[in-house]
Amino acid sequence: MVVGVLVGLLWGTLAVPTLAQSLRGKATADVDLAARLKEVEANPKLAETLYKSGEQVAAICANCHGEGGNSTKPDIPNLAGQNPAYLLEQLRKFADGQRRNDFMEGMIKVLKSDEKVGMVLFYARQNVVVHKSASSPALLAKGKDYFNKICWRCHAEDGRGNEKFARIAGQQPAYLNTTLKRYRAGVGARTDPLMASSTKLMTDADIDAVVAYVSSME
Ligand code: HEC
Ligand code: HEC
Repeated sequence: MVVGVLVGLLWGTLAVPTLAQSLRGKATADVDLAARLKEVEANPKLAETLYKSGEQVAAICANCHGEGGNSTKPDIPNLAGQNPAYLLEQLRKFADGQRRNDFMEGMIKVLKSDEKVGMVLFYARQNVVVHKSASSPALLAKGKDYFNKICWRCHAEDGRGNEKFARIAGQQPAYLNTTLKRYRAGVGARTDPLMASSTKLMTDADIDAVVAYVSSME
């Protein structure tokens, strides 16, 4: 990158685009976190070391995401039991500005790549504390119906996701509600083409029902 900037300075008018290119490179290229995760998972000793550093990082995150990633704030997501590849992908999206949240965008800038990998290894091994739903059996049944028609295709029958898709089982209800409405809107803080098409036809009442059911899944 230094070379790029120097070359740009030497070439005068080329300086601006060259610098812009190197900065863009810095913001997105970084380390390939998904590849690093695979590397670490294949090396149990390294995984254990990073797990411990991840546990230390998680002590800071606990202020909002709760002890062991079990949030006690309905609008802040649990990280416990979450798929490591999914979590890293979300950190990448915050870093790229593809997913917007002022606090999280700033927070992850101070984390080193291996701290991020250790953190997701730590959270993946924590159990999710699921709270019994206070919703009516009719609402839960409606939500279950909807889940079994659409959501299970990607998030799996038990709602725990897989390599590619988020765990949604036991997720915080207010967070689920906001997130589904953002996807449905298709613009703003968080968008995704697969989730846009999955929520396009949902009414607010459908969302209430799915949220009641999904947040109570173990
Ligand atoms: C001040 C509160 C706060 C702190 C501290 C905090 N977060 Fe967050 N985090 C949030 C909020 C709020 C969201 C949800 C943003 C949204 O609505 O999309 C979030 C979302 C996330 C997500 C996306 C989860 C998902 O299910 O998609 C990840 C990953 C995450 N945070 C990791 C961390 C890590 C790692 C730390 C500690 C280094 C941390 N957060 C510290 C508030 C916080
Ligand atoms: C075709 C595949 C697909 C289907 C069907 C689908 N999803 Fe998703 N879902 C995804 C993908 C991909 C993401 C990650 C998008 C991103 O990065 O923001 C996601 C993310 C989510 C999230 C955010 C999780 C988090 O921790 O922030 C929620 C909540 C969610 N889906 C709920 C649902 C519900 C409820 C349904 C059924 C109405 C559903 N999804 C159907 C693919 C799907």
